[in-house]
Amino acid sequence: MPSLHGAVVLVTGANGGIGAQFVAQALARGAAKVYASARMPRTWDDERVVPLALDVTDAESIRAAVEAAPDVTVLINNAGASVPTAGILTHSDDDIRRNVETNFLGPLFLTRAYAPLLAGRPGAAVIDIHSALSWFAVAGIYSATKAALWSATNSLRLELAPAGVHVVGVHVGYVDTAMAEHVSDPKTDPADLVRAVLDATERDEYEVLADEISVQVKAGLSAPLEVVYPQLRANA
Ligand SMILES: NC(=O)c1ccc[n+]([C@@H]2O[C@H](COP(=O)([O-])OP(=O)(O)OC[C@H]3O[C@@H](n4cnc5c(N)ncnc54)[C@H](OP(=O)(O)O)[C@@H]3O)[C@@H](O)[C@H]2O)c1
Repeated sequence: MPSLHGAVVLVTGANGGIGAQFVAQALARGAAKVYASARMPRTWDDERVVPLALDVTDAESIRAAVEAAPDVTVLINNAGASVPTAGILTHSDDDIRRNVETNFLGPLFLTRAYAPLLAGRPGAAVIDIHSALSWFAVAGIYSATKAALWSATNSLRLELAPAGVHVVGVHVGYVDTAMAEHVSDPKTDPADLVRAVLDATERDEYEVLADEISVQVKAGLSAPLEVVYPQLRANA
C-alpha cells in the first residue's frame, strides 16, 4: 500500500499552486526526499527537498531528470498548461501543441521513463492530475488533453498493477491557483485538494473526485449528449 512516510516523491510543476502543496504535504507526511521539479527550480527551506530542472515537454530534460532522480517511489504528474480562450477552432496552433505536449505527452513519457524504476518498489505510486474538464468538453484543447491523460492513466494503471505500482487519477473543478485566477466561480483550496489526493493514495484508492462538480460531471456522462450539453438544442 502506498505511504508518503519514507517515500521519495517527485512533483512536476512544483512551483505552481497545487505543486507547492504537494511538496509541503509530502514533507508533512514524512517523505524522506521530495524532488521539487520545475522548468526554473527554486530554493526550498527543507533539506529533504531537492530542486530539480524538468521541462516535461522536452525528452532530453526527462532523460536527465530520471538519471538525476532514480530513487523515486511516488511520481506526481502535476505540471499543466491551459489556454487563454476556450474554442478548439480558435486556439492558436502553438496553444494546441503546448497543451498536448504539457498535459498529455509530458506525463505519459515521464511515466514511461519511470515505469521500469518504479516496478517492484515498495509503496510505488503514480498520481496524475486530470480535471473535471476531462469529462466536459467546454475548454477546447485543455479538455481534450485532460481526457487523453485520463485514458492514458487508465491504461497505465492496468499495465503497472502487475508490477505493484498503484496509479491514482485526480479530477477537480476550479482550484484557487494562478491557472484559475481569472475565474470568479467557487474554487477548491489547493491544500484541501492535495490532502484529499494524498489521503486517497494512502488508502489505495484509484480515483479522486475532489469536489461536487467532478462527482456530478462523472455521474452525468451516461446521460444523453443533449442533456450534458443543452446548448446543442438551443442552436438547433
Ligand atoms: N487550477 C485549476 O483550476 C485546476 C483545475 C483542475 C486541474 N488543474 C490541474 O492542476 C495542475 C496544476 O495546476 P495549478 O492549478 O497548480 O496551476 P499553476 O499554479 O499555474 O501551476 C502549473 C505549473 O505547471 C508548470 N508547467 C507548465 N508547463 C510546464 C512544463 N513544460 N514543464 C514543467 N512544468 C510546467 C508551471 O511551471 P512554470 O512555473 O515554469 O510556468 C506551473 O508551476 C495542472 O495539471 C492543471 O491542469 C488545475
